[in-house]
Amino acid sequence: MEQERGNFGSKIGAVLAAAGSAVGLGNIWRFPTEVGNNGGAAFFIIYLVCVLFVGLPVMVSEFVIGRHTHANTITAFRRLAPGTWWRVTGVEGVFVAFLILSYYIIVGGWTLHYSIASLANRLSVNQDFGEYFSRFSSSAWEPVVYAVVFMGIVHLTIVGGVKDGIERFSKVMMPILLLIIGILVICSFSMSGFTQGMVFLLKPDFSSVTPGVALSAIGQAFYSLSLAMGCLCTYASYFDGKTNLMKTALSVVTIDTIVAVLAAFIVFPAVFSVGVEPDAGPGLVFITLPNVFNIAFHSVPVVGYVFSGLFYVLLFLAALTSAISLHEPVTAYLHEEWHISRRTAAWLVTVSCSLLGVACSLSFGPWRNVTIGGMTIFDLFDFLSAKIIIPLGGVLIALFVGWRLDRQLVENEITNQGKLRIPFIRFFMFLVRWVAPLAIAVIFVNELFF
Ligand code: PHE
Repeated sequence: MEQERGNFGSKIGAVLAAAGSAVGLGNIWRFPTEVGNNGGAAFFIIYLVCVLFVGLPVMVSEFVIGRHTHANTITAFRRLAPGTWWRVTGVEGVFVAFLILSYYIIVGGWTLHYSIASLANRLSVNQDFGEYFSRFSSSAWEPVVYAVVFMGIVHLTIVGGVKDGIERFSKVMMPILLLIIGILVICSFSMSGFTQGMVFLLKPDFSSVTPGVALSAIGQAFYSLSLAMGCLCTYASYFDGKTNLMKTALSVVTIDTIVAVLAAFIVFPAVFSVGVEPDAGPGLVFITLPNVFNIAFHSVPVVGYVFSGLFYVLLFLAALTSAISLHEPVTAYLHEEWHISRRTAAWLVTVSCSLLGVACSLSFGPWRNVTIGGMTIFDLFDFLSAKIIIPLGGVLIALFVGWRLDRQLVENEITNQGKLRIPFIRFFMFLVRWVAPLAIAVIFVNELFF
């Protein structure tokens, strides 16, 4: 089985594929929304702490598990701890990837729609974008069609394989994405709401910090870094023996955090310039940014057209690389464990996720009133995954690598069998054993029971 498995062809390919997974709607759409909902700068600071002291160690832990076993996530845990309940952690990863993919494709479909609309010059007319967005997202069939097309592209890439599909795609898209975001940030400097946006983002008000805010920050860190969903663990199973796990993780975390911060630098000045509330919810990026392009470029509409077109195409591509990484763990599992071809496995995932996706999409329109625990289906999926299953998975992964795995095995994996000198390895182990699980557990328990 191992010879048949694909591998990433280069180090940069591995970094960009993992960064492609991490950088996605979570950075550009969810992060600014979370910052807005949780009071701005204080959330932002807590988020950075979470990324560094909890997210990074968990990411390296996933890399260790994936690269050591060269197997899909469920098999990986089973091999490392045969006959124990630890395999639940692998199952959790694959399950939550599946759950997230089913609503991620809906938002992915929105980005596709917006790309096409802006290229067709439909977004450059002055109009109420709030209304435009709600009309589109609440339609019964339109978003579903876009989501299915979006899923079709994910499907084709997955069927293309690890190196020729996933890696090749990421290597082209990621540099372009970074470039465009940089240009948009520069544009946001000239907006009237720039100072107000920066104050909101940079002046912390710790009085608004509750355990709920901290849990949101951890949830967002995990979500944005694609942790505890089997994605990075699966990708790491395609790393070769020379990949420096620590360096790769640091690069991915850095790229992901920079993109999230830059996205906030784009969104908040814009939000204050056009007078939308910073907690405008998931529609933020779809309502605010079309306005931004119109306002910023009203004197040179052609530039506005090019920019908005490029932005939505790239948002779409960022979403695609993430969706691909959500599809892969489930496909790899089905392929390797159920002994079916990769193609059939990919089809199973594509069809079942699309069906669940339809339910998520309808929850913006005809099924708006179908609620469970006061949440629509879409919100429920997001809540269950980001706030419950992912933090739990994070605790389990950290405990597993920190306490259950042989310490020598972990160190050998991180140092590539002693060939690399990794300076802070003891500190790293301390973070994995104590800080990460305790931090997540305390916040989680606090939120749920108090
Ligand atoms: N990290 C992605 C983002 O920021 C979301 C994602 C989650 C992707 C889980 C893959 C796996 O949008």
